[in-house]
Amino acid sequence: MKRKPFVGGNWKCNGKLSAVKELLTAFKGAGADAKSVDVAIFAPTLHIPAAQECLAGDAAISLGVQNMSKTGEGAFTGEVSAGQVADAGIPYVLVGHSERRSLYGETDEDCAAKTKAALEKGLTVVFCIGEQLAERQSGKTTEVCEKQMKAVIPVVTDWAKMVIAYEPVWAIGTGVVATPLQAQDTQYQVRRVIRDECGSEIADSVRIIYGGSANEKNCKALGDLPDVDGFLVGGASLKPSFTEIITTAQ
Ligand code: G3H
Repeated sequence: MKRKPFVGGNWKCNGKLSAVKELLTAFKGAGADAKSVDVAIFAPTLHIPAAQECLAGDAAISLGVQNMSKTGEGAFTGEVSAGQVADAGIPYVLVGHSERRSLYGETDEDCAAKTKAALEKGLTVVFCIGEQLAERQSGKTTEVCEKQMKAVIPVVTDWAKMVIAYEPVWAIGTGVVATPLQAQDTQYQVRRVIRDECGSEIADSVRIIYGGSANEKNCKALGDLPDVDGFLVGGASLKPSFTEIITTAQ
């Protein structure tokens, strides 16, 4: 069974305000059909108002934040709460990106707390998992992904608002993309974990997308795989050719 594809563009901490309109204008030109693909751009938080202005009236491209607080509102200097994200009209949030986990020390428990807070406010969570190179080389890929999934599954109250992004850490920003066999095998196992924990109805409907050096050239072979339901794209989402990934997916 194929699910509606999801294509996310994670701009990370890149770009000036002036680039927002230029890129989004190009992406709007892709003519994405909201009925056949979900597209979300995870822009730097400061750039989101400009992005909202540019996308006003465009139903095909949504916006998301790249990170969010695990707390609510209050005396938490520098944080942005789920309620504030929702109040600003932003529907998506990335949780558990490997850069948050490795550079900022976010634990499985932090990621679960953020997911819980986001779902309580009606946000859709793109939840990232994935193994380090040494873990793949020592045959621990499934074990690592299973542990990351089992940490979040107990807090998921609405699977329709979850997208799982499998991002092997060794493929992120390296130009070394997972082979179709590696992506399919791992994503099959991630879906198996969800099936074991939550049942077939949820496992068959949740989207599991791939991230890690995905681009307009390799997305067709990966996107045709039975357990790959789209992409989370970093570097290639900072170029107008990101539109080709959208049109290939839909
Ligand atoms: O969130 C996106 C991923 O980190 C992938 O980044 O496409 O630059 O490898 P990349």
